[in-house]
Amino acid sequence: MQDLEAEKKQVAVEALKLVKDGMSVGLGTGSTVKYFIEGLAARVQEGLEITGLPTSRQTEQAARKLGIPLELDLDHVDIDVDGTDAFDLHGTLIKGGGGALFREKVVAYNSSYVVIIADSTKLRQNYHGETLIPVEILPFAKNMTVKNLERLGCSVALRQEGEFITDGGNIIADCTFASMDDPETLEKKLKGVPGVIEAGIFYGIADLLIFVKDHSIARMML
Ligand code: A5P
Repeated sequence: MQDLEAEKKQVAVEALKLVKDGMSVGLGTGSTVKYFIEGLAARVQEGLEITGLPTSRQTEQAARKLGIPLELDLDHVDIDVDGTDAFDLHGTLIKGGGGALFREKVVAYNSSYVVIIADSTKLRQNYHGETLIPVEILPFAKNMTVKNLERLGCSVALRQEGEFITDGGNIIADCTFASMDDPETLEKKLKGVPGVIEAGIFYGIADLLIFVKDHSIARMML
């Protein structure tokens, strides 16, 4: 039987080994990164000197509570460690299950090295077949934005009927496509819709995947 919590912890521990003194560290969001934050805090207690940049209020609160030094307006991040909802071996990720995709993408984009950690449920051979992509949109004129998203060929459900509010004060449109054959183009199309803040497709942004496959830790450099 899979012990997903143990897997999340294992991949987090592997990512921790990459963090060195003096680094600025992007702190992702979610149940996998939680273990990374706990491990990082333990190393900070032992004297590791780093500065963290959290990708959500949830992560910020957890990191502050554990005594990790934070700086919210860094101009560069050395290493970013984040989870994902899905990934393939080309490094295309789908994120936003927790609604933090916008800040996660800003931090990942500005990081020298992006490490994605994932338990054994996250790997996809491809994205052929039904694919849900979270998209952060402005509440302003949301019905028009939804219509324009639907024109791209997806069905749209507003998360918690529009009641889910992101850290940026926006809402999440969960867009389900029958298939995603060209993520790079789809990401651009989604971002081309006025009212869209960010799309949960992370294309060409990950540098290293650390994941569990067949009960072992696997690594893929991109
Ligand atoms: C947050 O919006 C997401 O992108 C998370 O990073 C992603 O959902 C991974 O979360 P888990 O580690 O909890 O699966």
